Amino acid sequence: MKTSSAPGKVYLFGEHAVVYGEPAVPCAIRRRAEVTVRERDHGLRVQAGDLTLSGFAVEYDSAEADRPDLDAPDALVDAAMGYVNEAVAQARDAADAPEAGFEVVVDSEIPLGAGLGSSAAVTVAAIDAATRELGVELDRTALADRAYRVENAVQNGQASRADTFCSTMGGAVRVEGADCRAIDAPDLPFVIGYDGGAGDTGALVAGVRELRERYEFAADAVAAIGDLVRRGERALAAGDRAELGRLMNFNHGLLSALGVSSGSLDAMVWAARDAGAAGAKLTGAGGGGCVVALDETDETLTALEYTPGCEDAFRAALDTVGVREES
Ligand code: PMV
Repeated sequence: MKTSSAPGKVYLFGEHAVVYGEPAVPCAIRRRAEVTVRERDHGLRVQAGDLTLSGFAVEYDSAEADRPDLDAPDALVDAAMGYVNEAVAQARDAADAPEAGFEVVVDSEIPLGAGLGSSAAVTVAAIDAATRELGVELDRTALADRAYRVENAVQNGQASRADTFCSTMGGAVRVEGADCRAIDAPDLPFVIGYDGGAGDTGALVAGVRELRERYEFAADAVAAIGDLVRRGERALAAGDRAELGRLMNFNHGLLSALGVSSGSLDAMVWAARDAGAAGAKLTGAGGGGCVVALDETDETLTALEYTPGCEDAFRAALDTVGVREES
């Protein structure tokens, strides 16, 4: 039996624009998904104690069943099972053991589909644990690449490498197309607000694509996000929090113009700004889910706790440790 964990992430800058080749800077946070894998004769049994999937167990033979029969929302089960299924397929491939069966237990502190990279964290931890269980050690680059292939398969070719690379390596990373690298970052005082919801990543990405094709100024907005990310990298290297905050605010405004914010995300962003945060923006695909703010005082946290529509607010320090072998 092997257990691995991997961190979730926030986008400091650059989601959506990264899909069109602009750079993005995701940062790993100290909220982890832990996956335990035990080899067994055949088939796959998955048990999840996730924040959103409040406890379900599925047993089926992946060779003969497309999806299990379950009393839970289809979209959530499909999403969770899709990632685990593909992660297991990658492990079988890496170990050249196409028939290997597994018992998988997923335990995640990261809300599902909320812009905190829960699917990437589960995928990275699952591939790491399953390959080790089969006696194969993948280096981090190979692991990040296989995790990307999983996300890409589940998200119908719409995934960037940002989430999976960040979750594997930890810390702050810079992703531009296939060029992924770790970058230096100071310990940033992230405060996260969560509205309890989730956006539909595929639909949101498609919406931005349509706007970008229809309006030149929407394409300009995407390119402007790329410009601010390049400035943001310099601010990050200089440890200039005030500038990082201003750029986060600008980034949120452009994402909002591209139609991927929501009433609750905007309310949380404004609550954070009014409380004195250096900056605040939505993180991830949008439509619902989480905002990230920078504030070293407790003001933003308190303001978010009192914001209607904010279900949970918490601090999340930068996690410099990526995927980790737990046992
Ligand atoms: O919501 P998340 O954490 O899955 O982030 C999606 C980020 C997008 O840029 C919208 C899509 C992607 O794959 O990069």
